[in-house]
Amino acid sequence: KDIFLDMLTDSGTNAMSDNQLAAMMVSDDAYAGSESFYKLADAVRDVLGFQYTIPAHQGRAAENLLAKALVKPGDVVPMNYHFTTTKAHFELAGGKVLEIYTDEALKTDSTHPFRGNIDIQKLKDVIAEYGADKVSFVRMEATTNLIGGQPFSMRNLREAKEVASAHGIPLVFDGSLISEQAYFIRQREEGYSDKTIGEILKEMMSHVDLLYLSGRKSTAVRGGLIATNRKDLYDRILPWLPVYEGFATYGGMSTKEVEAMAVGIREMTDLNVAGAAAEFVRYFVEKLLEAGVPAVTPPGGLAAHVDAMRFLPHIPQAEYPAGALAAAIYLASGVRSMERGTMSMDRDEQGNDVMSDLELARLAVPRRVYTMSHIEYAVDRLARLYEH
Ligand code: F0G
Repeated sequence: KDIFLDMLTDSGTNAMSDNQLAAMMVSDDAYAGSESFYKLADAVRDVLGFQYTIPAHQGRAAENLLAKALVKPGDVVPMNYHFTTTKAHFELAGGKVLEIYTDEALKTDSTHPFRGNIDIQKLKDVIAEYGADKVSFVRMEATTNLIGGQPFSMRNLREAKEVASAHGIPLVFDGSLISEQAYFIRQREEGYSDKTIGEILKEMMSHVDLLYLSGRKSTAVRGGLIATNRKDLYDRILPWLPVYEGFATYGGMSTKEVEAMAVGIREMTDLNVAGAAAEFVRYFVEKLLEAGVPAVTPPGGLAAHVDAMRFLPHIPQAEYPAGALAAAIYLASGVRSMERGTMSMDRDEQGNDVMSDLELARLAVPRRVYTMSHIEYAVDRLARLYEH
C-alpha cells in the first residue's frame, strides 16, 4: 500500500484488453469438457500450430508437469539461461541445469541484438559429454528473464533444433514472453522486417517440440499452458494433470481466465500488442542511459534493468548490491523494482550464498498499465539517486 509505482513484475499485472474482459463473461464452468477450453485449443492451433493443449494454473505448474514427465534423476537439461522456478523444478526431479550461453550473454553494456542465444558448439559438446539419453530436452527461454529479457535469433533456434533432433532430443520453448521474442526477431533479424508477428510465431513454433508458458506475461491472464504436436509427449504429461492441476479442460485455471487466454493468444499476433512493453522498455532504457544511469543494453522484453555492480561499485557482491539498489530506488521514488541477483539465487547444500552471474535491479513495465510520464518519473528519480 506504500508503493507509488509497482514495477516489481509484469507477471499477472498486465491489464487485459476489452475483448479479454468481455470473453470472461461468457465462460463455461463445466468441470469436464468446458466450451472455454475448446476456444483455447482452437486459438493455440490457429496461432501456434499445435494440436494438443494442456492448461495449467501458471508457468511454474507447467514446469512441474514437464519435470515429472520428462526429467529423470541423473539427467541434464541444457538451456540458454535458467529461470528460478525452472531450475528448482528440474533439480527437484533429480536433473541438473546446464546453462550454455554465448560470450555476449553476461555483458550488460552489449550491443548484440541476440544476447539470449544458446551456444551451438557448447550444446554439441554437452550432448557428446553426457550422451543423448541423459539429456531430458533442450530448453530455449524466450526471452532470458534473469539476464535482462534478451531474445535469441530465429537462426539460433533453428540450429539448436537441428542439433537436438539429430540426437532425438526434444526442443522445449519457454514462451513466457513469446510475443516480445517474435517482435525482436522482426525488428532485429535480417529477413524478418516484412513478416507479420503471426508468421514469426508460426515459424518459431515449427522448430519446437513442446511449448510451455506463463500466461501471466504474454497473454495477460492468470494461467499457464503446455502445447505440442508430439502425441508421445502429450501422453506422458497428461496423466499428471489431474494429480497436480485439475481436469484436462481447465488444468487449475478459472474458466474465465481460460476464455481470456484464448483471446490473449489471438491478440499476441497484433504488432501493437507484441511491441507494447518492448517499446516502453526501449524508451525507459534510452532515457536512463542519457541520464548516465548504467541500464542494461540492448533493451529487452519485460523491464528496464539497471546494473547494480556499476551503479554501486563500492558494494561487494556478498552484500547484495542489487538488493541494496532495489531498496534505495524505493526510498528515492516509491517505485518497487525487483532484485535479480544473489538474493534470488538458491543457496548451496551448506546454506551458503552462491554468487549470481549478474546483479540487476529490474523495473518491469506491465502492458497497458503505465504511461510515458510514469516512465519519466522513474527515470528522474533513478538519475537523482545515481548522482547522489
Ligand atoms: N518462465 C519464465 C521465463 C518466467 O519469467 C516465469 C515467471 C516463469 C517461467 C514462471 O511462471 O510465474 O506463471 O509460474 N516469471 C515471473 C517474473 C515470476 O516476475 O519474471 P509463473
